[in-house]
Amino acid sequence: MSKPVSAIPRFVVGLALLAALAGGSYAQVRLDVPYVPTPQDVVERMLDMAKLAKDDFHIDLGSGDGRIAITAAKRGARSIGIDLNPVRIAEAKENAQKAGVTDRVTFIEGNLFEQDISKADVLTMYLLQGVNLQLRPKILSTLRAGSRVVSHAFSMNDWEPDQHANVTGRNVYLWIVPGKAEGAWQAESGGRKFTLNLKQAFQKLSGTATVDGKSAPVTGKLTGNTLELSADLGKGATVLRGEIKGDAIDGGNLTATRS
Ligand SMILES: C[S@@+](CC[C@H](N)C(=O)[O-])C[C@H]1O[C@@H](n2cnc3c(N)ncnc32)[C@H](O)[C@@H]1O
Repeated sequence: MSKPVSAIPRFVVGLALLAALAGGSYAQVRLDVPYVPTPQDVVERMLDMAKLAKDDFHIDLGSGDGRIAITAAKRGARSIGIDLNPVRIAEAKENAQKAGVTDRVTFIEGNLFEQDISKADVLTMYLLQGVNLQLRPKILSTLRAGSRVVSHAFSMNDWEPDQHANVTGRNVYLWIVPGKAEGAWQAESGGRKFTLNLKQAFQKLSGTATVDGKSAPVTGKLTGNTLELSADLGKGATVLRGEIKGDAIDGGNLTATRS
């Protein structure tokens, strides 16, 4: 995949320095983000917010000295850290060894824009706003619904976070990748049949519910594939809940199929 062109400042690491450190040949690494480590208390909170579970698959994009990936591995997850800077990768590997987690964490020297992130249950990043925005379409189109994305310091613009925390003065944002609810559904709840027409902007839903030819507004949100709507089906405001499973919704007080 070719790297998106952007106006983001690029930080060039002169590899006379790298060559001196690594004893290697002269080359140049063009970084999209400079190296600044995340404090450990913020790392812990990022993984708490993501509800990182044992056996989750975690990826840290731009992994620096490996601290987020190593902390994830210590919590029992399988983790991959990706960094373009060979000096950072060498540090991260050494740190993983010291932490005794080399069986669960791997560090890859590479460009974060070129990695397959589709299998991540949890994706973490401490990058820049513009880099987050370049990654956003890939996150939304390739990660499964329900995957968690956590960013230290930088947001995703109009994709509002599902959760935000201030950790000792630092912003941490959590997004839960939303499923796909947009479109028309033939629905039923509490014995009432109706048509749902939903519009989706990231995790936010709006639209109409049409019962017996009468349409009323619907608002709601998606948390992964879990849908929660507020609608008036003719008997006052009702909360409708269900789980999107492909072209169907069930698992709550709302059942529907795509029309
Ligand atoms: C702000 S640091 C974050 C380090 C670590 N994730 C943390 O939070 O402690 C950003 C890292 O991204 C790496 N980086 C910058 N551009 C990159 C790119 N295009 N591909 C992979 N890594 C990159 C830098 O080398 C640096 O280590």
